[in-house]
Amino acid sequence: MDPRVVARLRCPVCHDSLTEVDTGGSRALRCPRRHSFDIARQGYVNLLTGRVAHSGDTAGMIAARADFLSGGHFDIVSTALTEAASADAYPLVVDAGAGTGRHLSSVLEVAPEAVGLALDVSKSASRRAARAHPRVTAALADTWRRLPLADASAALLLNVFAPRNGAEFRRVLAPGGRLLVVTPATDHLTELVTALGLLRVDPTKADRVAASMAGHFTEESTTVHRQVLALSRAEVATLVGMGPSAWHTDPVGLAARIGVLAEPVRVTVAVRLGTYRPASPV
Ligand SMILES: C[S@@+](CC[C@H](N)C(=O)[O-])C[C@H]1O[C@@H](n2cnc3c(N)ncnc32)[C@H](O)[C@@H]1O
Ligand SMILES: [Zn+2]
Repeated sequence: MDPRVVARLRCPVCHDSLTEVDTGGSRALRCPRRHSFDIARQGYVNLLTGRVAHSGDTAGMIAARADFLSGGHFDIVSTALTEAASADAYPLVVDAGAGTGRHLSSVLEVAPEAVGLALDVSKSASRRAARAHPRVTAALADTWRRLPLADASAALLLNVFAPRNGAEFRRVLAPGGRLLVVTPATDHLTELVTALGLLRVDPTKADRVAASMAGHFTEESTTVHRQVLALSRAEVATLVGMGPSAWHTDPVGLAARIGVLAEPVRVTVAVRLGTYRPASPV
């Protein structure tokens, strides 16, 4: 694994530093107290401990996400992130809830000196992220717990459509670092919400994001990014399959409703990008 990333990782049990070791044919990260964490043959390290409440996106959802993002349909998100990120020079960029690692990879493309760490609780996501970019390291970790990172170790933190932990994000972000949070705006995928009965974006979403950051970060700016996509029915099915509605909607009824949509299907992508700075200590 990239030594620049390993140097900033911490043991999730005792919070001491980790070093990469050979364990007779396979590799692991180990702390001085000999807590040991396997590096999977697919290249990611498992830094989860104990029982995890939710195992994150399934293999099917991650495959759908990889497929849909590779069609460039959410490049508006990557572009918004790279525009916001490009002004700084970073040693480490962390993406909490990185999914396939595509957005993190885009940011690394505009930060040639930086290394990236993709954190996700899903094994399928970490497998993909580990091979998303030569400078991405992937680790299984739960955003709701203490993150397996040293204090002030990240210069830039990304959080895109994924859970937020204000206190932990603050702890791992370097002074002067920035947090970029992407959340859906209220009209995100609105045509599909209406036609297919998908989950609606919570109208209080922006307030909930602000509440989760309060006391830990101050918001520097917010920008809204909108684009209308023209999709085939197959692409709509993939888009639905990668999102939360995949858990909640009856698949047969959903396929029937997608089957009668007129092509091209117009779908609004609408996201909010918040830029945050660590709050000054009180
Ligand atoms: C909607 S996807 C977004 C993925 C990626 N950021 C993107 O925009 O393509 C949400 C991601 O958060 C991950 N996730 C959910 N709960 C998590 C948790 N408690 N800790 C870490 N990752 C989590 C899921 O496995 C999934 O990959
Ligand atoms: Zn340890």
